[in-house]
Amino acid sequence: MTMSRSPLILLMVLIASSLTVDAQSKNRDRYFDDFRGQSFCASRQRGPQGSCCSDRIDECSVPIAGTLCYCDEFCDQHINPDCCPDYERVCLGAPEPIEARCDIGNGILISSFEEAKSNCNLCKCRANGVADCEKDACLSDDDVINRVNRDSSSLGWKAFNYSEFYGRKLKEGFEYRLGTFEPRIRVKSMSRLTNRLEDLPREFNSLSNWAGSISEIRDQGWCGSSWAVSTASVASDRFGIKAKTAADLSAQHLLSCVRHQQGCHGGHLDNAWRYLNRYGVADEDCYGYEAEVGRCRVKKGDNLQTLMCSIPEERAHDGFYKMGPAYSLNNETDIMWEIFHYGPVQATMWVYPDFFNYRSGIYRRSNHGENAKGFHSVRLVGWGEERFGWQTTKYWVAANSWGRWWGESGFFKILRGENECNIENYVLSSLADVHEGKPNSRQVKRAGRRASRNSQIN
Ligand SMILES: *[C@@H]1O[C@H](CO)[C@@H](O)[C@H](O)[C@H]1NC(C)=O
Ligand SMILES: *[C@@H]1O[C@H](CO)[C@@H](O)[C@H](O)[C@H]1NC(C)=O
Repeated sequence: MTMSRSPLILLMVLIASSLTVDAQSKNRDRYFDDFRGQSFCASRQRGPQGSCCSDRIDECSVPIAGTLCYCDEFCDQHINPDCCPDYERVCLGAPEPIEARCDIGNGILISSFEEAKSNCNLCKCRANGVADCEKDACLSDDDVINRVNRDSSSLGWKAFNYSEFYGRKLKEGFEYRLGTFEPRIRVKSMSRLTNRLEDLPREFNSLSNWAGSISEIRDQGWCGSSWAVSTASVASDRFGIKAKTAADLSAQHLLSCVRHQQGCHGGHLDNAWRYLNRYGVADEDCYGYEAEVGRCRVKKGDNLQTLMCSIPEERAHDGFYKMGPAYSLNNETDIMWEIFHYGPVQATMWVYPDFFNYRSGIYRRSNHGENAKGFHSVRLVGWGEERFGWQTTKYWVAANSWGRWWGESGFFKILRGENECNIENYVLSSLADVHEGKPNSRQVKRAGRRASRNSQIN
């Protein structure tokens, strides 16, 4: 009577000795669930006593998973029973077990031992109908969206449930939809350019002022490359404006070739601008965006010709597209002055969770959602103001790099003059070097004066 009669018992004894009682019963649930709906005792050849046997009859067994289970009265007399999964139902007449179901929210029901995602979190349904779910913050949080939309008249903007973001974790958004490192002390302490005061219009937009010369909204994809994408976009605009054509400079060239950056895990803006100043980049058609770092295709001494890029007729040489030294802007009016005269500038900002859900209106941080933030760079293309009753709200018009499906066709408005999300703290710009090799152009002289008067990123 003390001997184990099958390897199944031995196995269960081993499991029992190493697990807690709770874990052991979970294990048994799991074991029975694996064989749910299959016949064991029910499939036995009826002997003199039928499918089930009274007392201990070791032959009253059925093979199961490489061992045996039992249909005799003796099988449940142990600490570790070795009855077949259908013993209770077939031999004792117990009712068919009701399958447990878990409600994982959003009207989704799953059966025990099934897995399914509830927004960004994976849930497993336990045998007892309780769901075990991951508890991470999601990039598109229903609660944040609903609260922002409830408060939208006081907040000034509306939120939207983007399918591209739904089901992703907030940390994925921070990691792969942003990608600019906070400026280093060396860059922050750079002295700044101050422009003289001048009457500026109430509203201005580079898109209409330089129609046809301003670059398209880009989509950085799931790659933390805003450091490269925003730099390439601002540089493109400035080339386009100066050369009076559309220019599209390669963000991929920066992403793959600028050293000491983290690629799709972020980068420093000063490194990107320095590269554009020293070496320049190819155009987008020639070196297209891939949303991954890849290998740098450019060798030392390469130019547009050796890289087999097409060279626009108006271009006097086959060198890469270079920019002058980058400089930073001081305050609201300085930024406006710069945009008004030279075109879009690069701004960096703190991104809070609610920003991902921005749809329209003038953004300001709402305080809904996790208290977390990431650093991002965007392109300021203009400004305006909106009157509501006696109140006037001033805003920037900014281009994001998340595609046209996001925000107002890829653009967003954000509060101006109040350093919302630090967007006025660190604004960079640089002049396009369209006449490189023809140094007697007035524009280049002016650019040179400006650059030497001001601090440069070097
Ligand atoms: C967002 O969309 C998902 C599916 O696309 C849906 O399950 C969820 O309820 C939506 N949330 C809101 C706030 O509309
Ligand atoms: C920006 O700075 C310049 C000079 O430093 C100053 O004249 C101007 O009033 C400032 N503008 C704002 C909005 O503070």
